[in-house]
Amino acid sequence: MNEKQLAGEKAASYVQDGMVVGLGTGSTVYWTILKIAEMVQNGLSITGVPTSKETEKLALEHGIPLIALEEVSSIDLTIDGADELNDELTLIKGGGGALLREKIIAYHSTHMIVVADSSKVVSDLGTFPLPVEVVPFGYQKTLDVLQDMGCEPSIRSKNDSLFITDNGNYIVDCAFRSIPYPSTLHERINQIPGVVDNGLFIGYAEKAIIGNGSTITFLEK
Ligand code: A5P
Repeated sequence: MNEKQLAGEKAASYVQDGMVVGLGTGSTVYWTILKIAEMVQNGLSITGVPTSKETEKLALEHGIPLIALEEVSSIDLTIDGADELNDELTLIKGGGGALLREKIIAYHSTHMIVVADSSKVVSDLGTFPLPVEVVPFGYQKTLDVLQDMGCEPSIRSKNDSLFITDNGNYIVDCAFRSIPYPSTLHERINQIPGVVDNGLFIGYAEKAIIGNGSTITFLEK
């Protein structure tokens, strides 16, 4: 079993009967979703709130009942992946482009668990370019302002076209190389008109389950 599968499947053991569960996006939480689907087949009763169209499709294909965020008062537990995380459980997310819905769902969740392979754990955030979701209008100007903040920005593309998020926006990947003050950077980026949100997740996750070789390690706040 690889590290992603180890971490992803372990996280499913925190899901309990009757919960509303935020279902993250990506190749690690994929394993959580498959495990939850198996548990549902064996009688577990939960409702999922997907963080992306991709996850919605996966969950439905595997028989997990879903509900829209608008229809729940809160989410008991969200399980999601990360592109980088440090020991304070500050995360960089959005490698798959789902950061906005992921953050909205994390915000409305009582608990959040992160699942990742060992390569994601870093002492200094920022080697992974920070994804920033921007509205299409004037995006080149928004990109220029991001560059002035000290990063090397690049507009994300897919199959020779600009990548479009589930919300109809673009993603700018901002290579900062090092992010010593995540809260300050988070605030500064989100103040730029045209920016919808960025992939820094600060204060959401309370536990990380990390696949480490053939074992699992935990990071907790
Ligand atoms: C989706 O936009 C991302 O935030 C993912 O949760 C993150 O990229 C982790 O993905 P993997 O588990 O595939 O590495």
